[in-house]
Amino acid sequence: MNITAEQERSLIMEILTRMDVKKEHAEIVADVTLDANLKGFSSHGIGRFPQYVKGLKVGTIVKDADIEIGKETPSMALINGNHIFGHVVAYKAMEIAIQKAKETGIAVVGVHDSNHFGVAGYYSDMAVMENMIGVVIANTEPAVAPIGGKEPILGTNPIAIGIPSNKHYVSVDMATSASARGKLIEAIRKGQKIPENVALDEEGNPTIDPECALRGSILPFGAHKGYALAFMIEILAGPLVKAASGKAVRGTANPEEMCTKGDLIMVIDPSKFVDIDEFKEDVDEFIAEIKDSGENIFIPGDMEVKNINKTKENGVALDEKLYSQLKDISRELDFDLDKILI
Ligand SMILES: NC(=O)c1ccc[n+]([C@@H]2O[C@H](COP(=O)([O-])OP(=O)(O)OC[C@H]3O[C@@H](n4cnc5c(N)ncnc54)[C@H](O)[C@@H]3O)[C@@H](O)[C@H]2O)c1
Repeated sequence: MNITAEQERSLIMEILTRMDVKKEHAEIVADVTLDANLKGFSSHGIGRFPQYVKGLKVGTIVKDADIEIGKETPSMALINGNHIFGHVVAYKAMEIAIQKAKETGIAVVGVHDSNHFGVAGYYSDMAVMENMIGVVIANTEPAVAPIGGKEPILGTNPIAIGIPSNKHYVSVDMATSASARGKLIEAIRKGQKIPENVALDEEGNPTIDPECALRGSILPFGAHKGYALAFMIEILAGPLVKAASGKAVRGTANPEEMCTKGDLIMVIDPSKFVDIDEFKEDVDEFIAEIKDSGENIFIPGDMEVKNINKTKENGVALDEKLYSQLKDISRELDFDLDKILI
């Protein structure tokens, strides 16, 4: 079945308010989750709710706390997320980074003791909406083996970069693994295979079975280059921000463990370097050059725009298994799922 964006938002708000999540926090989680579904990143959308609900139940996602600024200078801050929803922590960290970058031209905010934050691109978009450049990276619990190995030590370590432009949505938002882990979880739920050249089984052999892949490892994107980038993110979003790295990163996929990952959020104000209008014109000129170079040329961000238009028209797909997982949640929380969805 397909549901509308409004229905998805209502459903998320119903679940979270029934679980005593503060309204302000619930609204941010709903917004980020919906953003994932609209942009076509369904692996990080409403399908993550069984994980979040479990996290709230066992207390790995804390409801009645807020972020704390541990260290601060005019251009940086280090934030303790106190294990509230990762979406809320990253949102507030980005707000702080934007404010600081408005003053200083560039700001970097680190986050520890947070939780899974959904799609990284939501937060870089926040900077773009302020005519700034946003960069968001995070580490995750291990899924990727170093090149030559078969034991997962690195996370799927997402990176998002958003750039302001007059004419285009310019954003890259991706895992540094050949596939996001969420796509494997989604394939298992839908009973699907995964593409070739994405993952290895426990023995280090190629597999298209998502369950074997989850027990084994996901390959980095772009061979050694993806591995090298994930390696660097592991440190920038790990020890630099008082978070864990490598096998000590827990709790981004398994909600039963307290989350030890970190985020690093950077904002650059182009207007402190050059005239902002000229900058955006230059960006658009570059994009025109790229697009004029062939017929089927896309820029980073085009896929998201295409998907937003498609999802707004067709709605968000709920597969049978996800519907039944949401039905179980609604029974436990004592509300009628179908009243919201139909
Ligand atoms: N929270 C976490 O811990 C975590 C971890 C990993 C991934 N994620 C999220 O998972 C989502 C999916 O990641 P993914 O790696 O599967 O994404 P993906 O492989 O679908 O890549 C998406 C990016 O590539 C760009 N792109 C696609 N085709 C293009 C083309 N032809 N030309 C130019 N650019 C193109 C898109 O615009 C988009 O920005 C992301 O939102 C990411 O933030 C989150």
